[in-house]
Amino acid sequence: MTHIPFKHSMVKGGSMAASSACPASPTRRGSCTLSYSNSSSAGSTESFPSDTSCGDSESVIDSSPDDLDYIPTDGGLATEVPPHTGKKTVLVTGAAGFIGSWVADTLLARGDDVVIVDEVNSYYDVRTKRSNVAMLLEKYGPNRVKFFEGDLCDAPFITRIFETEGVEWVVHMAARAGVRPSIEDPFVYVHSNVEATTRLLELSRLHGVKSFVFASSSSVYGGSQKEVFSEKDVVDFPVSPYAATKKSCELMAHTYSHLYGLNIAGLRFFTVYGPRGRPDMAPYKFIDLVARGQEIMQFGDGSTSRDYTYISDIVDGVVRSLDRPAGYQIYNLGNGSPVSLSSFIKLVEKSVGTPAKIRVCPEQPGDVPRTCADISKARAMLGYNPSVAFADGIDKTVGWYQNRAAMNAAAAAVADNADDVIAEEEPLTVELLSLCTTQAAAGRARSMSCASASALDMDFCDSILPKAMMSQQQQQQQQQQLSATAADGGVNLERASRTMSYAY
Ligand SMILES: NC(=O)c1ccc[n+]([C@@H]2O[C@H](COP(=O)([O-])OP(=O)(O)OC[C@H]3O[C@@H](n4cnc5c(N)ncnc54)[C@H](O)[C@@H]3O)[C@@H](O)[C@H]2O)c1
Repeated sequence: MTHIPFKHSMVKGGSMAASSACPASPTRRGSCTLSYSNSSSAGSTESFPSDTSCGDSESVIDSSPDDLDYIPTDGGLATEVPPHTGKKTVLVTGAAGFIGSWVADTLLARGDDVVIVDEVNSYYDVRTKRSNVAMLLEKYGPNRVKFFEGDLCDAPFITRIFETEGVEWVVHMAARAGVRPSIEDPFVYVHSNVEATTRLLELSRLHGVKSFVFASSSSVYGGSQKEVFSEKDVVDFPVSPYAATKKSCELMAHTYSHLYGLNIAGLRFFTVYGPRGRPDMAPYKFIDLVARGQEIMQFGDGSTSRDYTYISDIVDGVVRSLDRPAGYQIYNLGNGSPVSLSSFIKLVEKSVGTPAKIRVCPEQPGDVPRTCADISKARAMLGYNPSVAFADGIDKTVGWYQNRAAMNAAAAAVADNADDVIAEEEPLTVELLSLCTTQAAAGRARSMSCASASALDMDFCDSILPKAMMSQQQQQQQQQQLSATAADGGVNLERASRTMSYAY
């Protein structure tokens, strides 16, 4: 019999002053219309080092259409859009994922209600995604967080959600992310990015959505040889299917705004990192490899630099744009302060407390020397002001990583040694239920029981248990069993665990 002495301890983003090193580009406009121009580029800034090729500098075009982007003006300068301040019910897609889960958390913390739609795909470990949803359900309860698991392209499914949940505000973070996998399978990217976004736009216009915010990407800039990327640059020459789908979403969004007057903000994120970060991205990968004493590959002499943005700054930009609908707008959300690869590695070494084993490799063809977001438009119109210095952000990310590693080690030890698990922690935490799930998945535990039900609700249990692996009948059975045991006053997961073992 094993007692689990686990303490819940999440790391949340804080703030620290950071200097902005990027020169701001002036925004050109008429009295109430922004003259909008774009420039070409290539290369993703989502992964480090970049693995894409440089764009042709001759393809830089000043397109300057004059019918885009109403921007309130004040003596020729964009001014901050006045924010909507009332309580909202916000549809947050992709909230099982990294950025979406933080956005949902932030909206809920300030008093909004959230409707989550996520298909919980296996692009990376689905336990991470389930645990993100379970954390939100545990923290805010099923009255304020509703979770619908499914594909945004499933028309009856998503239509029903719009009809029943009264959605008027949308933060669309769901997508297939990642540059390299998009080259392997472009079709899934067209499905989850272009088709899903179009489906949401169509429903948003039918249901009179007040503000629609979606995630674009700095990848649309490709491998531009410019040092600072501006929304005014032409981005008509994507170099990966991923970037092409993000640019397509921007085009479709503009069309819907033009035809139906929808307020839409497309946000070009620059390499987002932080607790719960995506495991396929460089910040997580480097921290993980250094912490485990594994070799990291440094492409080039370490002088290339990237603009990394800490998660709390990105979330602040997302929420600010949701609150400030202003026609059709594209905003860069970055830090505006690039960090070199060698400084990045040094900071990881310092924070983890272990020297990195570095293999220096030749620069990859097409690696861009530097990426940097021009964030002057978001500063002016949204009041966006990234405040977390990279060193501070890396420390917070490493703290989260180490906490999670300790948790996983505890779970593995339990799974190796226990036949029965009695959890005495109060309240019942996401991590504790995850341990129970691990046990059942390993097929080792005969039973699992918890001393108290204070934090337990059915939706919470339902979300943490590996639903996708059960038949509908098994899910109903599990729900009934959990309801029955919770009604007794205590919680006994024994029967649920049997159902789960059976399901596996
Ligand atoms: N993380 C970054 O640095 C970064 C940079 C630029 C842009 N972005 C964009 O920001 C958004 C969020 O990125 P993230 O890093 O949190 O990614 P993530 O993979 O952690 O989250 C995306 C979520 O969307 C869900 N999803 C995908 N397709 C779906 C579909 N068809 N129906 C329902 N759910 C679906 C996934 O299950 C996942 O939970 C994405 O649109 C991404 O392209 C991220």
